[in-house]
Amino acid sequence: MDEKPVYLGILGLGTVGSGAVKILQQSSADITQRTGRRLEIKKVLVRNPDKPRPVTLPKGVITTNPAEVLEDPEIDIIVEVMGGISPAKEHILQAIRSGKHVVTANKELIAKEGRELLTSATNAGVNLYFEGSVAGGIPIVKSLKECLAANMIRTVMGIINGTTNYILTAMTENGADFAQVLQEAQRMGYAETDPTNDVDGRDAAYKLAILASIAFGTRVRVDQIYTEGIRGITAEDIRYAGELGYVIKLLAAGKEHPGRGIEVRVQPAFVPRLHPLAAVGGVFNAVFVQGDAVGDMMFYGRGAGDLPTGSAVVADIMDIAKNLGGKVNPACSCYTDKPVIPLEETRSKYYVRTAVLDKPGVLAQIAGAFGEAGVSLSSVIQKGHGMQPVTLVFVTHEVKEGDLRRAIEKIRFLPVVDAVHNVIRVEEGR
Ligand code: NAP
Ligand code: HSE
Repeated sequence: MDEKPVYLGILGLGTVGSGAVKILQQSSADITQRTGRRLEIKKVLVRNPDKPRPVTLPKGVITTNPAEVLEDPEIDIIVEVMGGISPAKEHILQAIRSGKHVVTANKELIAKEGRELLTSATNAGVNLYFEGSVAGGIPIVKSLKECLAANMIRTVMGIINGTTNYILTAMTENGADFAQVLQEAQRMGYAETDPTNDVDGRDAAYKLAILASIAFGTRVRVDQIYTEGIRGITAEDIRYAGELGYVIKLLAAGKEHPGRGIEVRVQPAFVPRLHPLAAVGGVFNAVFVQGDAVGDMMFYGRGAGDLPTGSAVVADIMDIAKNLGGKVNPACSCYTDKPVIPLEETRSKYYVRTAVLDKPGVLAQIAGAFGEAGVSLSSVIQKGHGMQPVTLVFVTHEVKEGDLRRAIEKIRFLPVVDAVHNVIRVEEGR
């Protein structure tokens, strides 16, 4: 065993930083055995040194001066768990330039600035690992990059935001509305005070940009991902989904259509009750992967939290420590350039919930508008009779999204239609 420890500099000691430190301290002996090196936390950067922390570090380790961490020549690995773009990006670039390896859990930074950071790391001959940035404790980044490297990945599709999955699960179980459950989730600490990034799908889009870039070997930018959150999902939609044999999930989906390009989107979708993703409840995450050689697989676990995310961060640190001084793998896995297929060109079944006048000939008018746009219907449900308006729910066969939109624009303006309340993709899971 090498006597000199591997020195760590940690940027941030919040939820993830504290989780990683806890693991490094509690499992220190086993970590040393497994890596063949002792890991020592030399410096930790925070904003407020007086804040109470759930971990205890020796005197002099905590600092508010970034230079004490980034310019310490003994530090081998910088662990960035402070979040945000700036100054995290500048700190990582400085670390890379100084020949330090980097581990980060920062999904926003990797999704938005990954190309520059990964290229810099490769050019500098250092590792930049980011397992904790997607789905917390689930080892999906390394699985895609290494364990499934022999496969052409056709689908990577998941529930990768715990907050929205908690809300949708509670809505499904209690029949409650979105606003009511969100308030409850905030009170219990499951949802942040400002839940925008989560409920509007942005957090999942960052993670999908990372997953799809690795899975399909092409750089997927966040702005190329169609992103829709769950604010528009009502208790009524969830009830109809149940009646039709589905549950509603916020799905982050990446699919490759060989020869055409890739499809990347984050949106609420009907998932068949028997699909493995349908059983993923509460704050749990899961990623479903289809490879041409391996077939279907699903990765399931905790997508956030101090110890689950700390588990991914510490595993990355150990990986680097084991191979310190050895060969550095290319950081970036985007070696092709595949086009993103416009959403209008993608195909799916759809659920459409309308409010219409209850009188003879209405169904024929609406079915006619669907038909004129080339949209074929699979089923229709009408609930109630005699009241005005009544709910009419349609499920289409698989159609092009562009055709469906044309039909909806026509239907919206039919005099017999009071409102088109919701249109939701029905994902058959492939
Ligand atoms: P957090 O609890 O807000 O902690 C951030 C830490 O960074 C705090 O210790 C803060 O210092 C420090 N910090 C922030 N800006 C700083 C600055 N300019 N200078 C010095 N220190 C600064 O955040 P987190 O939840 O641990 O998340 C960290 C990263 O992990 C983010 O990129 C997040 O997206 C990612 N992530 C989080 C989770 C999760 O479950 N929370 C899961 C996966 C990935 P003070 O403590 O002094 O304020
Ligand atoms: N806010 C995220 C979620 C956790 O709700 O899944 C951090 O990735």
